[in-house]
Amino acid sequence: MKNKIMSYTIPLLILVSVLTSCNLSPNNSKESVFTEAPFFDADNLTHIKQEMVSPPTLPKHEQVAESDPVVVEVTFFVEEKEMEIAPGVKTWVLTFNGTVPGPMIVVHQNDYVQLTLVNAATNSMVHNIDFHAATGAMGGGDISIVAPGQQVTFRFKATKAGVFVYHCAPGGIMVPLHVVSGMNGAIMVLPRDGLKDELGNPVRYDKAFYIAEQDYYVPTDQNGNYKQYASPAEGFPDLITSMKKLLPSHILFNGKLNALTGSNALDAKVGEKVLFITSQANRDTRMHLIGGHADLVWLGGSFNDAPATNYESWSVVGGSAVAALYQFRQPGIYTYLNHNLIEALAFGAVAQIKVEGDWNDNLMKQIKAPEPIQLMKTPK
Ligand code: CU
Repeated sequence: MKNKIMSYTIPLLILVSVLTSCNLSPNNSKESVFTEAPFFDADNLTHIKQEMVSPPTLPKHEQVAESDPVVVEVTFFVEEKEMEIAPGVKTWVLTFNGTVPGPMIVVHQNDYVQLTLVNAATNSMVHNIDFHAATGAMGGGDISIVAPGQQVTFRFKATKAGVFVYHCAPGGIMVPLHVVSGMNGAIMVLPRDGLKDELGNPVRYDKAFYIAEQDYYVPTDQNGNYKQYASPAEGFPDLITSMKKLLPSHILFNGKLNALTGSNALDAKVGEKVLFITSQANRDTRMHLIGGHADLVWLGGSFNDAPATNYESWSVVGGSAVAALYQFRQPGIYTYLNHNLIEALAFGAVAQIKVEGDWNDNLMKQIKAPEPIQLMKTPK
């Protein structure tokens, strides 16, 4: 009996000691999330300006912070405009800087974002901005409300590393109305020492693309034709009715049908590590790269956690952004899509990446091209 107990106890003790001595998560040595972020006197830090660019491009940035935290100044101009989101479908979009989604901001953890939000007098509505990366005051929404003809500046500390959504949130039913009219985007808060792989080793990306899924609810008339309005406000009563059915008229990447396909396809090379950042401000989605994977995926968008590895598809819950890294091993035209295939291929939530390089026969090879059937199934 004693021998039997020992035969179980010894392997168990070995297992416990292995588990406790090896670093199962590269983040085990990190501080608790409840440890207060280090203090910096934000009034006396260096300011840098970040020039906003249109998605899928990211602004110029360093992957590893080169200095102590800085104040990153960013300006968003609100643009209310009619946009053709699909052939013949013109709808009012409410935008940060004229694009759906708004521009990606990139900072490092514990940097400060100083945003100036400009609402031109030619606009018709009150807007603001709620950063999911910010702490307090409705993510800044409470202190950034601007009527047409006003601008506001506020600052927040990016204490948490990850990718996060921002969106307009002017209160009540106006929140979904503005969000489904395109007023959302994302910010990437990189760890100061850059991204780490699943083992805790530094990992750099060669390219990064920001791809946002947008659900639109364009109202239709009795004949099923998409309606147009003289102003966003004129269309809002119909839009409320339409969006309350929870049946999008369009589910698109980067605001417009085919914004990232055909001649608008993204490009990369075999061997390159590409970071795909995908946000959905309103609705759940799930991403997939056909013929590839997420080598690394920071689930929930958190860079504080070790990335998951080798996912085939990954979830982006409504109101979040997720980053996935893939090293292309084969050339070709890849499709990056929402793997509700109806939402992708009947609605349009699809992007393409043209990857150049040499084909690797060892990874995949067509052994025989299609030919007349040679093998007859013998009836039993
Ligand atoms: Cu707004």
